[in-house]
Amino acid sequence: MKIVHQINQVKGMIREVRQKGGTIGFVPTMGYLHEGHLSLMRRAKVEQAVVVASIFVNPLQFGPKEDLAVYPRDLERDSVLAESADVDILFVPAVEEMYPQGVKRFLTVVDVAAITGVLCGAARPGHFRGVTTVVNKLFHIVEPDAAYFGQKDAQQVTVIKRMVEDLNMNISIVTVPTVREADGLALSSRNVFLNVAERRAALVLHQSLQAAVRLLAGGCRSAAAIRAAMTALIAAEPLASIDYIAVVDRDSLAEIAAISGPVLIALAVRIGKTRLIDNMVWEG
Ligand code: PAJ
Repeated sequence: MKIVHQINQVKGMIREVRQKGGTIGFVPTMGYLHEGHLSLMRRAKVEQAVVVASIFVNPLQFGPKEDLAVYPRDLERDSVLAESADVDILFVPAVEEMYPQGVKRFLTVVDVAAITGVLCGAARPGHFRGVTTVVNKLFHIVEPDAAYFGQKDAQQVTVIKRMVEDLNMNISIVTVPTVREADGLALSSRNVFLNVAERRAALVLHQSLQAAVRLLAGGCRSAAAIRAAMTALIAAEPLASIDYIAVVDRDSLAEIAAISGPVLIALAVRIGKTRLIDNMVWEG
C-alpha cells in the first residue's frame, strides 16, 4: 500500500493504473477506521482491480459548534488497518492541499437542494454542502469507476447518488450494509466519545429500530404509530435525547404517513454530548 499526501501524486498513480486498463474503486473516509470502513474497502477490492481510500477530516462539513477539533485521528493505526483490507493507495491530504487558501477563501460549492435540508441536514445546516463539495473534489482527483458508501449514513448515500445523477458523473455508487457491534450498536468513529454508561444507553437506537421492525412485521403501516413506539422507548433512557425520528421515502426523503412499500426509518439521538445516527430500510 502506498500512502500519498499530494493530489498530483495520486493523479499520476491513477494515470498509471488506467494505462494498464485497471478499474478503480474509491472509499472516502474521515479516518479513525473501524470494521464499517474496512467492509467498504474489502467490497471495493472484490469488485475493482485497484482500491483507493482517502482519509480527510473535511472542515467544510463541520458546523462551528461541532466536533472538528476533537474528531478522533490516528494515521498510524489507520494505515495498518487500511493495508489489512488490501487498500492499494491511501490518500491522506492535508487541509492546505485540499483548500490551498484556506476554507474561507474556497469559492466553489456543490449543493444538492431540498433533500439536504431534512433529517440530519435540518440539525446540521451546510453539512451536506460540505460533503458533496469535498466528495466532488475527491471524485475529480481519483476518477473512480465506483465509489463505496455505508448505509449507516443513509441520507449521505441518497444525496451523493442524486449529485452523481444530476451532474452526469460516470461513477457507480455502491451502498454497503451497516456493520454493527455484537449488541447491535452501529460502528462509528464517534463511539469512542461514549463513556461506559453512555455506551449502554446508545443501544436504544438499534433497539428502537428493532421495535419498528416488530411493528411492521405485525402488520402496522402507520408511520405515526411507529414513531410513537420508537419515541417512547428512547424517552425511557435518561441519557438519550431525540434529534429526529423519520419514516421517509428512501430517494426523495419525503415523509411517508401510510407505509405501502419500501421505507427508510432513520433517527438521530444525542447520547450525552455525542450525536449518533442509525437507520434501517424496510423493503415492504
Ligand atoms: P466517515 O464517517 O469516516 O465514513 C466513511 C464511510 O464509512 C461512509 O460511507 C460511511 O457511511 C461508512 N461507514 C461508517 N460507519 C459505518 C458502519 N458502521 N457500517 C458501514 N459503513 C460505515 O462519511 C464520511 O466519513 C464523510 O462524510 C465523507 C463521505 C468521507 C466525506 O467527507
